[in-house]
Amino acid sequence: GKVAVLLGGSSAEREVSLKSGEAVLNALLQAGVDALAFDPAERDLWELKNLAIERVFIALHGRGGEDGTIQGALEYMGIPYTGSGVLGSALAMDKVRCKRLFQSAKLSTAAYTVIDANTGFDAQSIINEFGKVMVKPSHEGSSIGMAQASNAQELNVALTHAFKFDDQVLVEQWITGPEFTVAMLGGEALPVIEMKTPRGFYDYEAKYQVNSTQYFCPADISNAYASQLQVMSKHAFELVGAKGWGRVDAMQDDNGQFYLLEVNTVPGMTQKSLVPMAAKAQGISFEQLVVRILEQTL
Ligand code: DAL
Ligand code: MG
Repeated sequence: GKVAVLLGGSSAEREVSLKSGEAVLNALLQAGVDALAFDPAERDLWELKNLAIERVFIALHGRGGEDGTIQGALEYMGIPYTGSGVLGSALAMDKVRCKRLFQSAKLSTAAYTVIDANTGFDAQSIINEFGKVMVKPSHEGSSIGMAQASNAQELNVALTHAFKFDDQVLVEQWITGPEFTVAMLGGEALPVIEMKTPRGFYDYEAKYQVNSTQYFCPADISNAYASQLQVMSKHAFELVGAKGWGRVDAMQDDNGQFYLLEVNTVPGMTQKSLVPMAAKAQGISFEQLVVRILEQTL
């Protein structure tokens, strides 16, 4: 049947989604699937019915596409779609609720506090409690709106910036050490990837714009550490109710302790993205990966 690749959308990650969607569409066409691109920022979702679309590949990132809203609309329309359902998508898009779930399951995650736009905060006492921190809008992706802060003045600047993107902001204790990611495909963890950047952290530029980011797959850690992180990631993925495919991000400190950051239910799918990189390390080509994600809607 006919497949629509949903791409673009109206979140802050629109540009990334256009790239993911285009790569997914090309792979489907290569694989001989009857597919077309559909941008819900420009068209009414109900047109999918008129186009006789039988399945949807969701390549939308961020709010409105990765957060359960499109998933709910597609459920209502009776059109099968890739990846997580309404609940898993909504939970994974909420970094604060994800962290609470991690804690309830005794999964390691960095110490944190939550700040709402309409409640006050004392930057100095936060710094006194946590030291260096990472400031994150609760419902964003691709590191949009994020900043580090080492003192009260930097924290005030970081919070003001983060509140431009979200009414709820997460302030996490800074974890030194590289970032890791574990791609999930059909309930299994793919090989761990490690990212090293000379920048302060793995930010938007490090992800998409500069060539200085180094990727290691397999990661530059022992097999025991890699398996430990795969087990943790699989647990986190199932805990939030994510399905089909996705990616779990984590950090490791100098003592070897891992800290879960978040679960992504529609991770980047550009040719340079991490899930395709992990799949390749497992002998799965980009085209095969896309087809396998789509097949899970059957
Ligand atoms: N939010 C971006 C697309 C990612 O997780 O890859
Ligand atoms: Mg994300």
